[in-house]
Amino acid sequence: MDETLLNQLKQSLHEAIEHANSDWTIRQLPQDEKPPMDLLLLADPSEQNIAQYIFESEVYVAVENQNVIGVYVLKEVTPGKVELMNVAVAETHQGKGIGKALVLHAVGRAKLHGMRSIEIGTGNSSIQQLALYQKCGFRLKEIVPDYFNTNYAEPIFGKGIQCRDMVRLQLNLD
Ligand code: COA
Repeated sequence: MDETLLNQLKQSLHEAIEHANSDWTIRQLPQDEKPPMDLLLLADPSEQNIAQYIFESEVYVAVENQNVIGVYVLKEVTPGKVELMNVAVAETHQGKGIGKALVLHAVGRAKLHGMRSIEIGTGNSSIQQLALYQKCGFRLKEIVPDYFNTNYAEPIFGKGIQCRDMVRLQLNLD
């Protein structure tokens, strides 16, 4: 990982810790605890898709007063490479730094597991998400044209833009 990126990540982590207060924490969801489907559906409108990846992944939740207010799902997709399959924060708690803390926590977990890279895919209309991931050090990697047209039954819109293509981002952890 180059020094500029490392400094950027350190700064982001520092900000996330500053934002975070003792009212909420991040913990791994045990296999026997039900995943927060309402939150997962904020990031991925297909319950069928979620069901396919959730049980082969590690799930982490942000918890405040025993209420789950955020979630992320991390899956090893090929040896040495993990994908952040889903990240979501309850609408009532958005804009307070929780999403950034979850993404940076996922990066930390991937590094701890000795992964070489972490990837994420989002939609072309996901302006806020593209900002968030780049602020966490991810770089644009590739576009998968028509991914959302092909894989989702209903058209998806965000910020008045049709979500057609997947934008893939990657962070090298070497
Ligand atoms: N331009 C620049 N930066 C922007 C931005 C924009 N248009 N929109 C957001 N950001 C930045 C914020 O400023 C913040 O960075 P900062 O802390 O350096 O200022 C960062 O993005 C995100 O802030 P944060 O408060 O941590 O995000 P959040 O807790 O609201 O969580 C999501 C973000 C995306 C997880 C949340 O909005 C969500 O759950 N959305 C619905 C589900 C979803 O879309 N998941 C992702 C699927 S790919």
